[in-house]
Amino acid sequence: MVPRHAWVDGRLLPADAPHISAFDRGFQLGDGVFETLRARGGHVTELDLHLSRLGRSAAGLGIRLPDDAPSEITGGIHALLEAEGLGGADGDAALRITTSRGASPARGLLPPGGGRPTIVIQAWPVVPPPAGHLERGLALVPSAVRRDPTNPLASLKTTSRADYVYARLEARRAGADDALFLTTDGHLSEGTTANVFLVRDGEMATPSLDCAILPGTTRDWLLRWARTVGLRAAEGRLTAADLAAADEAFLSSSVAGILPVTRWAGAPIGDGRPGPWTLRARAGREAFIGEAHGS
Ligand SMILES: Cc1ncc(COP(=O)(O)O)c(C=O)c1O
Repeated sequence: MVPRHAWVDGRLLPADAPHISAFDRGFQLGDGVFETLRARGGHVTELDLHLSRLGRSAAGLGIRLPDDAPSEITGGIHALLEAEGLGGADGDAALRITTSRGASPARGLLPPGGGRPTIVIQAWPVVPPPAGHLERGLALVPSAVRRDPTNPLASLKTTSRADYVYARLEARRAGADDALFLTTDGHLSEGTTANVFLVRDGEMATPSLDCAILPGTTRDWLLRWARTVGLRAAEGRLTAADLAAADEAFLSSSVAGILPVTRWAGAPIGDGRPGPWTLRARAGREAFIGEAHGS
């Protein structure tokens, strides 16, 4: 289903209406930040965590959001869900909140100061994973793009996504489902829209925060969940060889949830099928989302 509306700076507009200025720095420079999240049955999962991360990303770029941005965005989300017919008990929506530094008539990189950030919210129905993704798992390949752990922007969710688009295109050319970034010093980092986990010897391991990753909300949930089901949860510096030798692997993100990874660089991981811990984690997370932990 195609969205019928977008929420733009406090107004619900038809999806095909003009929305933002051609001078918007988000469009011109990727000078913005965003969040992607899920709303099931009208409840936005972990909205507070996403709003905090949006604020941290904005602060990291020196974009000053208005003090009432969290309440304005919360109201905007609910108005949009309603308008899109996704706010009811059976609604399941993927939401995107995008905020840029705003429009500036001046040329150049340095922001003029005093501008007003643009805030946009969009909603789509959640599309179930493509046929086969859950049954056979995803095939991942390494991206030629390396992520630099010393880059101060590495953990911010900025709208400058050219690297990620490039990596997705690489994966498509290789006949894979997605690409995984390695760091400049040779460790596993993350997927193009997800964190990565592996399971080995009773342990669930994921790259640590110093591996140029987005600190995923689902990643945090998984680290807590693992302890409740008797798995050791470990954050550390993992390598491509660790992934190749793992019993199971999976990706985690707010909208897609937990997706099994069964091939890495052309070779099977474990027995080449989605693993039992992966499927259990996916079911646990979907149940959590359905329990309305959010606003
Ligand atoms: C690059 C990247 N890493 C990780 C994640 C997972 O974050 P979260 O679990 O908060 O959705 C995302 C989600 O969009 C992402 O884009």
